[in-house]
Amino acid sequence: MEKILILDFGSQYTQVIARKVRELGVYAEIYPYKITESEFKAINPTGLILSGGPSSVYADEAPHPSFDIFNTNIPILGICYGLQLIAYQNGGEVDKAAHREYGRAELLIDNNEDIFQNIDNSTVWMSHGDLLTKLPNGFEIIAHSNNSPICAIRNVARKIYGVQFHPEVHHTAQGKQILENFVRNICGCKDNWDAHSFIDTAIAKIQEQVGENEVICALSGGVDSTVLAVLLHKAIGDKLHCIHIDTGLMRLNESAKLMKLFAENFDMSIELIDGSETFLSRLAGVTEPEQKRKIIGKSFIDLFEVAAKMFNNSKWLAQGTLYPDVIESVSVKGPSVVIKSHHNVGGLPEKMGLQLLEPFRELFKDEVRAVGRELGVPDWFVNRHPFPGPGLGIRVLGEITTERVQVLQKADAIYIDEIRKAGLYDKIWQAFAVLLPVQSVGVMGDERTYENVCALRAVTSVDGMTADWFPMPYDTLASMSSRIINEVRGINRVVYDITSKPPGTIEWE
Ligand code: XMP
Repeated sequence: MEKILILDFGSQYTQVIARKVRELGVYAEIYPYKITESEFKAINPTGLILSGGPSSVYADEAPHPSFDIFNTNIPILGICYGLQLIAYQNGGEVDKAAHREYGRAELLIDNNEDIFQNIDNSTVWMSHGDLLTKLPNGFEIIAHSNNSPICAIRNVARKIYGVQFHPEVHHTAQGKQILENFVRNICGCKDNWDAHSFIDTAIAKIQEQVGENEVICALSGGVDSTVLAVLLHKAIGDKLHCIHIDTGLMRLNESAKLMKLFAENFDMSIELIDGSETFLSRLAGVTEPEQKRKIIGKSFIDLFEVAAKMFNNSKWLAQGTLYPDVIESVSVKGPSVVIKSHHNVGGLPEKMGLQLLEPFRELFKDEVRAVGRELGVPDWFVNRHPFPGPGLGIRVLGEITTERVQVLQKADAIYIDEIRKAGLYDKIWQAFAVLLPVQSVGVMGDERTYENVCALRAVTSVDGMTADWFPMPYDTLASMSSRIINEVRGINRVVYDITSKPPGTIEWE
């Protein structure tokens, strides 16, 4: 299969490059810049993209490839640091710019062939402190800007191209067309990547890997594990055993809805384990957030281990690991700081002698959603907001009791219902209610009340790493607040969270 290899030099946008190329229908993979020549040959890429990065190419510690990538005879596109690397290693010169250039700039095209075919002078996104001051041997300038006399270069004979700006980011007006010109016209890649083709290949691969053996899948009810279960069922039918643990910390009627979804749409039976008593009794009296997380993670593993024994013919444990987790662990940036779901049943595969089956290791979240849609998972489910592994356990602040969880479940359900009614659900990345360990005075009818405060949170985001608070319309806030106070006994005050991330986090604990 034709594929584009992206070498990561540490840019914050590397994953965006891969996503944009895949959106064009071409498979793309990210590897650290240190990739060896034999690994490179094994991948056999059709084209190579060099990402940006925070270093200066001439610095002592600068990331340089481990072999001469410029003599591999495949088309290359260097972006920002990638362009500077092309120059530095091919007889050009790179120096510190008098002024750092950050933000929008006007790209002025000098040559409209190949990579800039159908591109006009337009806005591009710049983010660099270094500049090309001398062209590398055999290259020509194909675009400039007021700040950068050399903004894009090419060597047609060697099919090497470089741009100072970031075509992958949204602010570069014609960035998609530039990437398309590279992968289609210069690399000659055809359409080979979409949900449909992924499903066909994945099913064949799963069948081959698993053979006649059985597979266990921990079904949390999130998008990833749900789509995974449906795909596995399509591939191996009744050899799949799904276990869903109701932690007692799910949203209102969540487990029941999940069972119904599978029974009605996929004719699959799921082993439902009611773990609420275990979770809630182990959490009694605990208020410290990290301790709560540990207890929840451990309880999950304990219950899952017992449940899995029901299917002791199984040789595989399926998990919805996604591509960003895979790249994070091999990236040039060092160990990941991303919070991983505690549902990746840590340590269990080794302990139970199970092999890991991870069919989504190559997929981004939006691709899992597309696969889900293609497999017939309903839209309302596939588009659901992310939900943390520890569930309401980290949204009932302070001590968790059955009663407090129920209060929060009701408030949260009303909140999400009002968001959906206002047509805002798909505009928000994540929305949820939080029950505070604070009581306040109120008056209802003729009586004074002294009850709980509920906070509402809604954010927009791309990947959860940064987020803005969502500007909820006043009339929607008004109906949420009055419904929650009227319908949920135990809450007499509602507040809306207007904190972005950073400095806040999305969750409150
Ligand atoms: P924060 O609160 O760190 O959240 O800004 C970023 C994203 O991660 C989710 N989150 C978690 N997910 N286990 C999970 O599986 C956790 O312990 C956890 N903590 C936060 C959060 O819901 C948001 O989507």
